[in-house]
Amino acid sequence: MKLGFLASHNGSNMQAIIDACRSGQIKAAPVVVISNNPDSGALQRARRESIPACHLSSRSHPDPAALEQAILQALQQHETELVILAGYMKKLGPAIISAYRNRILNIHPSLLPAYGGHGMYGEKVHHAVLQAGEKETGASVHLVDEHYDNGRILAQTRVPVQPSDNINTLAARVLQQEHELYVQTVADIVTGKLPLP
Ligand code: GRF
Repeated sequence: MKLGFLASHNGSNMQAIIDACRSGQIKAAPVVVISNNPDSGALQRARRESIPACHLSSRSHPDPAALEQAILQALQQHETELVILAGYMKKLGPAIISAYRNRILNIHPSLLPAYGGHGMYGEKVHHAVLQAGEKETGASVHLVDEHYDNGRILAQTRVPVQPSDNINTLAARVLQQEHELYVQTVADIVTGKLPLP
């Protein structure tokens, strides 16, 4: 199976999946990395791994419809079969979602549907979890549809919140679990153990 990635920042989840492809834990090939951020760690990682890397954003394509087509073309040109969002901070347009219906995954650092939705991303999620005094949080891998953090949940992992946690310690503990969860979920999709609709 050919995997295409969209990532905006560091790309550590993407790297975990690439590493698992290289080691054979995931029987798939990373074929393209797309980022809206020309300086992202994700693009640097892609270049280091010799995976085709493109910067596509409102800077390269000021017209949103043209940008959406450029992203779709990049995915299709590399024959992407499964699209993996890994810290991608932009909403995908409807043409991409319908071209890859039920074939786009995202990871979110909470136990969805809790602490998800528009504006709930990155540190804001962990801040809200701590503010609410939750004893437990986690991460979720879900299918992407037209709404934020809304598609079918495919897999979740639970992470304890410690009384001494701050945003950084909690984010780091969750991120470590995200890597394992995302790798295992993609591996299970590729083998068919986790069938997509
Ligand atoms: C992760 O916490 C992910 O859940 C969220 O953004 C972060 C991305 O981290 N969507 P990285 O870029 O994969 O290191």
